[in-house]
Amino acid sequence: MTTLTEADALDGLRDALGLLKDREQVAERLLASSAKHSFDPDKELDWDAPLEEGKWFWPPELVSLYDTPMWKRMSEEQRILLSRHEAAALASLGIWFEIILMQLLVRHIYDKAATSAHVRYALTEIEDECRHSKMFARLIRHGGTPWYPVSRPHQALGRLFKTISTTPGSFTATLLGEEVLDWMQRLTFPDERVQTLIRGVTRIHVVEEARHVRYAREELRRQMVTAPKWSQEFTRVTSGEFARVFSVAFVNPEVYTNVGLDKREAMAQVKASGHRREVMRTGAKRLTDFLDDIGVLRGVGRRLWRSSGLLA
Ligand SMILES: [Fe+2]
Ligand SMILES: [Fe+2]
Repeated sequence: MTTLTEADALDGLRDALGLLKDREQVAERLLASSAKHSFDPDKELDWDAPLEEGKWFWPPELVSLYDTPMWKRMSEEQRILLSRHEAAALASLGIWFEIILMQLLVRHIYDKAATSAHVRYALTEIEDECRHSKMFARLIRHGGTPWYPVSRPHQALGRLFKTISTTPGSFTATLLGEEVLDWMQRLTFPDERVQTLIRGVTRIHVVEEARHVRYAREELRRQMVTAPKWSQEFTRVTSGEFARVFSVAFVNPEVYTNVGLDKREAMAQVKASGHRREVMRTGAKRLTDFLDDIGVLRGVGRRLWRSSGLLA
């Protein structure tokens, strides 16, 4: 799809040298890519097709209980049902993240020139997230599962965070929300065992999110050089705390009750699962490598990241 242009080669060179890319230039390229590859999920996907018998709603290896003693006792039917509820829980979590992110982006551009490519791209990203949230909501309804909100304390924490977070803190949280789910979605859309509609949803999301990740990474890289020292330090600690919340909130435990499992027992088994730990760590690896590289994972923050289970 993308050809290696001179600009790409130059970017690669800058990356290698650890130099900051021009903010406007990055945004212009993201705008051009958005103009070429954006999707309207309402038109793009077949929402009237019936669910496919025997197909998964999420790859089994990415279902929280996979490979635990409980999983081994479950029937294939119950496992698929759990994947259906976990997909709905992740879509709900995705909407929560996106709504937070939309507000962070609005705050980010509030005092910046609207004529700049950087602001125009932020507005484009907000448009993307509006379509995604509607797409996820439609997917949840389509699957006949409940809406799975995050817990009340996490909701309150999110409300506070989206109102007061610093710019680097905002972009770190953005990447955390986007990159782990993105890693899972990259395994989901090509998987033929998975429902066609879910494959379509994750494919659209992966394509559009790649730009969001790029935008957030470039901005965070700049911020970790240019933001005041206190703000950089604050980012290290708050992002570590955010990682802890993220790993707890990742799957809503009500899914277990709703498929007829003992919630406490299921949560304990997920917590003890080596496979699950590996999945979460691998999913976060690209992100933690990047954050380490730009100096976010230091001191107290690093210890918090470790205790979240996302960092080895
Ligand atoms: Fe999104
Ligand atoms: Fe996004």
